[in-house]
This record gives sequence, C-alpha cells and structure tokens, in this order.
Amino acid sequence: MSLSTAQSPLLIATSLGKKYLMALSGLFLVSFLPVHLIGNLLLFKNDGGAAFDAYSVFMSTSTIIRVLEVTLVAGFLVHIAEGILLTLKNKAARPVGYKGGSGGRVQSFFSKYMALTGSIILIYLIIHINSFTLKHRIYEPSNTAFYHTVRSAFETGWGGLYAWFYVGAMLLLAFHLNHGFQSAFQSLGLNHKKYTPLIKKVGLLYSVVIPAGFAAIPVYFQLKFLRVF
Ligand code: HEM
Repeated sequence: MSLSTAQSPLLIATSLGKKYLMALSGLFLVSFLPVHLIGNLLLFKNDGGAAFDAYSVFMSTSTIIRVLEVTLVAGFLVHIAEGILLTLKNKAARPVGYKGGSGGRVQSFFSKYMALTGSIILIYLIIHINSFTLKHRIYEPSNTAFYHTVRSAFETGWGGLYAWFYVGAMLLLAFHLNHGFQSAFQSLGLNHKKYTPLIKKVGLLYSVVIPAGFAAIPVYFQLKFLRVF
C-alpha cells in the first residue's frame, strides 16, 4: 500500500480509516449476497411459491432478522458514503487533464468504473427495495404472496423490461464485485505473494457465480412467461 508523503500523519490516519471502512463494509455486503441468493433460490421450487412465501414471511417478521437488517442498512450506508467521499477525494487529487487514473495511480478498467457501477447498483437497489420490501411492509402489509409479487414483476413489470433491467444490473454488479473483492483485501493491507493471486481467483469466481445466480431468476420467469419451456 503506498501513501503520499505530502499527507500529514492525521490525514493518513483519516484516509486509511476511510479505506478500511470501505473495505470492511464491502466485505460485510459480500457476505450478505450468498445468503440472500440461497433464500431466493426457493423461487425455483416447483410448489407454487409455498416455500418462498413461508421463507419471506419469516424474513419480514422475525425480530432477529430485523436486527440483522438494521446492521445491513448501516453497512450499505457506510459503503455508499465512503464511496462518495473516496471518489470526490480521488477527483480532487487528479491533475487537471489527467484521464488515466485516481490520485496519480494507474487504474484498471474495473477500478475506473467503480463509482459508476456503484451508482447504478444503488439505483437498482432503490427500485428493488421499493418493488419487494416496501410493497409488502408498507404499501400492502397484509399481502403475504411474495412469490406472486416476484413472479409478476419479472413476467410483466415495465412491460417485460423489469426482468432485463435486473440482468443488466447483475452484469454491473459482477464488474463491481470483481474489482471490489480483491481491492478490499489490498485496502486492509493483506498483500501476499502467495495469497493475493488466490484472493483474486476467489473474487473472480464469486463475482461470476453470485450475480449469475441472481440473474437466473428474472431470466427463468421471463422464459417461462414467453413459454420457451
Ligand atoms: C433476482 C434477484 C433477487 C430477488 C428475486 C430478490 C428478492 C428480494 C425480496 C423478495 C426481498 C424482500 C424481502 C422482505 O421484505 O422480507 C428483497 C429484499 C432485499 N434485497 Fe433482494 N432480491 C434479488 C437480488 C438482490 C440483489 C442483487 C441485492 C443486492 C445487490 C439485493 C438486496 C436486497 C436488500 C438490501 C433487501 C432489503 C433487505 C431485506 O429485506 O432483507 N437483492 N429481495
């Protein structure tokens, strides 16, 4: 990890603290996604949605889950806030007319687009939570037919575009995770000749498998709706 010598010790501590927070909140969110995906895989069960509805009712009423959700929201807020601050800091540090990097460092294709992919994922999340969480908790609190909500959103939402919007968002999520995963370990100072290549490989596998698993859900409902199978 390299630090600018022009920074005062206090500033170094602040920017290191920011990097740590960004990395730790990112890794915390990374742990949420497989759990969320495994629950959502119940949508593929051929039982008319009974298992998914039972699971969703538990998730939306359990006190333990509610406490975990508060932690999750805090994790998202920290990650978003630190992301915005880091982007602004990098922009301010970039020499005028310099297009290739952040704060003088050479950037990879993926790292260059972290702020952009992160912002689009945030828009996706707002739409996602509005369609599912808020629908069942605020707009229609007595409606427990979660499977029906998900299915109709992916079949006919926005005239069929809702499902493909999800697929596009998952592609961007894959890019974001691919860079974010290994970058988090670097930010925490976990740089090792032997382990860094392994971390990169695990990150690549994670960033392909998890978004692909999520994307399979809207594709499945669209193809079913279009009577492809
Ligand atoms: C096709 C893919 C997905 C489906 C079918 C799905 C389904 C759902 C459903 C039904 C809920 C509401 C649960 C409740 O109210 O108890 C929910 C909430 C949520 N989802 Fe997703 N989700 C998907 C992908 C994602 C992705 C990729 C992310 C993150 C990038 C995500 C993040 C969240 C968050 C933060 C919540 C609110 C917290 C919660 O209620 O547990 N979801 N999702």
